[in-house]
Amino acid sequence: MKFKSKALLAVLFCTMASVSAFAQKFEELAQTPPMGWNSWNTFQTKIDEPLLKGMVDTYLTSGMKDAGYTYFVLDDGWMTMERDKDGNLVADPQKFPNGMKAFADYVHSKGLKFGIYNCAGTKTCAGYPGTRGYEYQDARLYASWGVDYLKFDWCNTEGINAKEAYATMAKAIRAAGRPMIFSLCEWGQHQPWKWAAKDGQLWRSTGDIGNAFEETVAKDGWKPLSVLNILDRQDSIRQYAGPGHWNDPDMLEVGNGMKYNEDKAHFSLWCMLAAPLMAGNDLRKMSEQTTAILTNKELIAIDQDALGVECFKYYSFDGIEIFVKPLANNELAICFLNRSNRPQNVNFDWKAHIISDAITKTNIDFNQATYKLHDIWAKKDIGTTDKLFKQTIGADDVVVLRLTK
Ligand code: GLA
Repeated sequence: MKFKSKALLAVLFCTMASVSAFAQKFEELAQTPPMGWNSWNTFQTKIDEPLLKGMVDTYLTSGMKDAGYTYFVLDDGWMTMERDKDGNLVADPQKFPNGMKAFADYVHSKGLKFGIYNCAGTKTCAGYPGTRGYEYQDARLYASWGVDYLKFDWCNTEGINAKEAYATMAKAIRAAGRPMIFSLCEWGQHQPWKWAAKDGQLWRSTGDIGNAFEETVAKDGWKPLSVLNILDRQDSIRQYAGPGHWNDPDMLEVGNGMKYNEDKAHFSLWCMLAAPLMAGNDLRKMSEQTTAILTNKELIAIDQDALGVECFKYYSFDGIEIFVKPLANNELAICFLNRSNRPQNVNFDWKAHIISDAITKTNIDFNQATYKLHDIWAKKDIGTTDKLFKQTIGADDVVVLRLTK
């Protein structure tokens, strides 16, 4: 009996030690890429409770929640410029007169999950108090408010080691005891895909997205990345993503002013990339087209596919690029992107191609197997791989097919 309880203690000790040494994060979260809404792309720091409550309400009535979006994330600008006398962060009383717990309760009362933002540095990117030196205290405060998701930025971090800073915050979240998705926003500067899977569920792979498909315009000496700039930086890191640990090519700009075809291509490509889908538009003012893009269930199913594999660029010719995403049950998603500045005719002879992918051990020879083709945007079946695939694709537009044996 004595021996048994000693052995039990030893096992318990080892389990606790291994949890703190290796698996800081809550392993069960984000088995598919997280989906939600974030305040930054449209509102920057101009957020407050009435505006955000309206956004929460439209989240439900617009069909976003039904389509699978779950998180409601406040980005930078929710705090006062100073901590209180005990060193606690304070929700700006002008913006949140009822405090942050009351707002989190509102979000939860609608069946959504609540997310918040801070930064590994001494100040956030917009100049509010950062978490440097307050990791455990801040994590406890978030847990007491019911936070389910923390986005953690990388401004004002001179002299700080990225790996250590993010590991410390991950441990602080674990110690606070409330399961939270930990979203590293380090802009890919220290290759987080190589070390962050033990700390968090997603990490930004690049600098910030801007609201443009091909080229953004510089503002105040700084130029955000376009949709295509970001796309071109994902292929080489696809092997690092999978269930519970995702490359994050940044939030969506759908509905923020790009053309319809560009929004459609942006959303399709992010779904092909198994990207976290964080809408960044004003949900209260969505056009029918924007709603149709963001709630396209067949595309979301490709993003959320259980295999959790990112697409790869299979082929590129004359401005047409073909991306392939292996799916569960031996299905495939294929996206034809026309990034040239004129409509292009695609004549794709399946039988002349063998599609292989070392990561998923996919090897498809269309002479050996026939697949049925479903055109997702056209919402129709279009025959099989026994026939040429012929279609004209407009400039900066896509066709996305789901292939089933
Ligand atoms: C950085 C991040 C953005 C946003 C802002 C907030 O630029 O990359 O996503 O959070 O900070 O200040």
